[in-house]
Amino acid sequence: MLIKKPADLKYSDITPKSIYVDRRKFLAGAAGVGAAMLGGRVVLDVISPRTTALAGTKLSGYSKSPLSTNEPRTPYNDVTQYNNFYEFGSDKDDPAVNAKNFRTSPWTVSVEGNVTKPQKFDMDAILKMAPLEERIYRLRCVEAWSIVVPWIGFPLSALLQKVEPTPKAKFVAFETFYDPKQMPKARGTGIEFPYREGLRLDEAMHPLTLVCVGMYGETLPPQDGAPVRLIVPWKYGFKSIKSIVKITLVEKQPRTTWNMAAPNEYGFYSNVNPKVDHPRWSQAKERRLGEFLKRPTLPFNGYADQVENLYSGMDLRKYF
Ligand code: MTE
Repeated sequence: MLIKKPADLKYSDITPKSIYVDRRKFLAGAAGVGAAMLGGRVVLDVISPRTTALAGTKLSGYSKSPLSTNEPRTPYNDVTQYNNFYEFGSDKDDPAVNAKNFRTSPWTVSVEGNVTKPQKFDMDAILKMAPLEERIYRLRCVEAWSIVVPWIGFPLSALLQKVEPTPKAKFVAFETFYDPKQMPKARGTGIEFPYREGLRLDEAMHPLTLVCVGMYGETLPPQDGAPVRLIVPWKYGFKSIKSIVKITLVEKQPRTTWNMAAPNEYGFYSNVNPKVDHPRWSQAKERRLGEFLKRPTLPFNGYADQVENLYSGMDLRKYF
């Protein structure tokens, strides 16, 4: 049978769920694009055009990380229908609707700046960069809601080591893809695009910092940041930048989107801190999506044991 082993699979060969779940519609429209029925099974080889979001494709061969929480996962529907992705609109239900046809293939991530080996990685290279792990992490949004998600990815340190940061590299700046044609709703949200984020180099190299390519066993849906995003679980959710195309190792603290938009409300560090309120609301509690009652928010979102040493001696009220 013509079924490719995961190791042979190219990211660009992966079939969107919207195609394989509706076999009949697919077969009707698939004449001449490499589909065949073998023993009652649809075999998909190369589908063309392969440009729309490749969400919902099974990922395999990943291990389960011991760094996972054993708290119950947030239902998939909540995580994919209640989003912040301002490129696709500012209401929580906008991204699921407006990112549907977001073209995420082909895709490259350029890694540059103060590095010995600047490189452009395509998604095949990114998927092969390091063993994939499932990490069940909490993510706590600055707006006081939170989710628990089985993310799939690998430590950002593996990617950064590939390009060999020079001693001048002190911070890492990230940038999201921006195309006003595909993202007409971005205008009017009041923030500047492309969306930018940043970490100190030691935060970026921390083993918890994840380059994320999937969730719930599948590639990322467009509204959750396909095809590749960051997850920094001890920081407010806006640090976990989506749909990354550029990573630059820099000397100085980079400018970041929400800090530029409202510097008194959103700091560069943005570590989850129940003791430092947002100027307009409390950060002491959060509502987990799918639950009714609020729960107390934990310092560093519950990851204090692993990360608080990164900030020893720092006044976290000043560096919020
Ligand atoms: N990345 C980009 N490019 N644009 C955004 O608007 N929103 C951030 C972050 N990453 C955002 C982004 C915010 S505020 C949050 S809370 C998380 O994404 C939400 O991730 P989720 O929608 O997968 O839950």
